Amino acid sequence: MRNMTEADLTEVVLERYASTPDPRLRTLLHTLIRHLHAFVREVRLTEDEWMTGIQFLTRTGQMCDDKRQEMILLSDNLGISALVNMVSAGVPEGTTESTVIGPFYVPDSPQREWGESVLLREGADRELIIHGRVLGPQGEAVPGASIEIWQTDANGMYDIQDRSQPEHNLRGWYRARKDGTFLLKTIRPTSYPIPTDGPVGELLQLSARHPFRPAHIHAMVSAPGYRQLTTHLFDSEDEYLDSDVVFAVKSSLIRTFERNESAEAAAQWGVKAPFWELRNDFVLSRDE
Ligand code: BEZ
Ligand code: FE
Repeated sequence: MRNMTEADLTEVVLERYASTPDPRLRTLLHTLIRHLHAFVREVRLTEDEWMTGIQFLTRTGQMCDDKRQEMILLSDNLGISALVNMVSAGVPEGTTESTVIGPFYVPDSPQREWGESVLLREGADRELIIHGRVLGPQGEAVPGASIEIWQTDANGMYDIQDRSQPEHNLRGWYRARKDGTFLLKTIRPTSYPIPTDGPVGELLQLSARHPFRPAHIHAMVSAPGYRQLTTHLFDSEDEYLDSDVVFAVKSSLIRTFERNESAEAAAQWGVKAPFWELRNDFVLSRDE
């Protein structure tokens, strides 16, 4: 086939991919090609604009290493990660909602003992304890579930962004007891800007958008026989809840941290008064 025109090129390209053996991959490729071609036609994309886009994506890829995931950041900022989460979430009523994982998850973080703090530096001034249960959809305890958390320090940076923090500061996983109960210790999170020193930062600037995420703690909860839950706990007092740069806030995930001034309660939980407290259950759905 030669001398193709704007009118017939898309069909020719689709035909060339029609023999892709895997049916799901064939559908993904066909639909992606149709939408990308439609985009080019609709905006009458110029060669200069196309090259600018190619260079942007190239720089985004080149920025990635084992600590920096600019591609996930781009997906998050375009609302694609949130949309993928929405179309694939579909959990039963009453179970905890999921949200985006973000680019700062680190596999193989260390285990923390019952009530041990994930804060690895001195001088915690906003200590927070989180206690509750991991439950299944019928309200049954999920014994031995793993509850992994990660968050930024008070300066708004994750350990992997900030060489002054000890490795694995503010990340780790806890094992729930036989009755599903857990006790986590951390600090109350703060809102923070996502990294703006790369291509995604340029995009935000060109679009006149702010880079902030509302204060949150990430949690990944898993247990055999249950669907793994990747979620956040958002602070109800945060000013960015309605303008999260990555569109990941769900009302059901907003929590109120209670200030507790009781010296007796502080001694019970092994913290200094005053401290912050959250009672929170995670409700998992069954694995299909
Ligand atoms: C995060 O919460 O760690 C995050 C999520 C999406 C983009 C950037 C950061
Ligand atoms: Fe985060």
